[in-house]
Amino acid sequence: MNTPQLPPFDHIPQPYSGPSAEEVLALRKEFLSPAIFHYYQRPVMIVEGKGQYLFDEKGRRYLDAIAGIVTVSVGHCHPHVVAAADRQNALLQHTTTIYLHPNIAEYAQALAAKMPGDLKVCYFVNSGSEANDLAMLMARAFTGNYDLIALRNAYHGGNASGMALTAHSTWKFNVPHSFGVHHALAPDPYRGVYAGDPDAGKKYADDVKSVIDYATSGRVAGFIAESIQGVGGTIVFPDGYLHHAYEHVRAAGGVCIADEVQAGFGRTGTHYWGFESQGVIPDIVTMAKGIGNGAPLAAVVTTAKIAQVLAQRIHFNTFGGNPVVSAQGKAVLEVIDREGLQANSLRVGNYLLAGFRKLAEKHPIIGDVRGKGLMLGVELVKDRTTKVPAREETMQVFEMARDLGLLIGKGGLHGNVLRIKPPMCFTEADADFLLEVLDLCLAKL
Ligand SMILES: Cc1ncc(COP(=O)(O)O)c(C=O)c1O
Repeated sequence: MNTPQLPPFDHIPQPYSGPSAEEVLALRKEFLSPAIFHYYQRPVMIVEGKGQYLFDEKGRRYLDAIAGIVTVSVGHCHPHVVAAADRQNALLQHTTTIYLHPNIAEYAQALAAKMPGDLKVCYFVNSGSEANDLAMLMARAFTGNYDLIALRNAYHGGNASGMALTAHSTWKFNVPHSFGVHHALAPDPYRGVYAGDPDAGKKYADDVKSVIDYATSGRVAGFIAESIQGVGGTIVFPDGYLHHAYEHVRAAGGVCIADEVQAGFGRTGTHYWGFESQGVIPDIVTMAKGIGNGAPLAAVVTTAKIAQVLAQRIHFNTFGGNPVVSAQGKAVLEVIDREGLQANSLRVGNYLLAGFRKLAEKHPIIGDVRGKGLMLGVELVKDRTTKVPAREETMQVFEMARDLGLLIGKGGLHGNVLRIKPPMCFTEADADFLLEVLDLCLAKL
């Protein structure tokens, strides 16, 4: 098999004259928290990015198929986004919302225009964890109820409340953080208890009702779910799941929260928001990551009625929606539309899915191929019947792919799912390279 070649690209990276990767690693070890982990046994140092490509300090080019953990939505250093941020950086960086500024207002208007139903009121914060924390507060303040239902296999953040909603032992510390949070079954079509059942969507949703009946007073503040579970290994819910779950939650007085931190902004291809493919309209939507193409920007969008509850007290966020990130966020919305990135995600995503299915015919280690648009997962198992996770083999593929110039992610509780979530400007030529690299890596196992 020939060594796969990256598609041609005419960008020449700038010469790098900073500290070496070894020096940077030594500085990290001495001065940064040991909790800050890096990918790869020999970590990669990335100093420049353009479109869907990254460059290391020696000028080597890599194909970026994980986008800064699903964050660089429209491509690294997209000129329209850079120009919007540069213009604003030179003029005024920060004042907070105690003064008027056009950027936050115009950006909120543009974001609201992307939302269905009555979802029209935005609150900007800095991270997905913060957005989910605020959504929990809104749900509790609005309903007067305390209990919240989240899903097993979920990831919603690393702060105390995000950790409470998250349901993966790997991300949870042994401290009290989960009061009032209950986890229902993960609606996982591959590993879940109703795998293969045509009525799985309704049956998993019935578990939400069961949690409400058995674990709460019967009245709940709300329910939160990622539209596709991301960190959990790209779990796409069975049809009808959210529709039935939302019915149970609303009947118990709760509001429904969609965490679109990974699935939003056209990435799933068929729809702008992930929840739309389940035919539901949530009461609160949280967003981060791809919203800002790398800016520390996140949002909670809800109805005017729910938004009103935060006005009962003073609520403030110093950086939320500052002039620079608002300019950047608005530019991201414009690029997604102008460049047809949602349609591109669908086309290239379907092309990749077909390619992964072909690889699965050849490599029995591939247990499952799944996802929508450019939010894809390839699960590796030691045996297709027992589905024992092929954790070590996944690590090997991960390392070999990097050596061949391909950067991907991994996820799932057992770390055996290859996560493919590139910038949405990914091309079919990039997909061909990715498929060739994976083919070669899997053949070498
Ligand atoms: C679905 C989802 N929600 C929330 C978060 C937390 O976002 P942040 O890391 O910006 O706090 C993440 C992060 O990976 C996520 O994937």
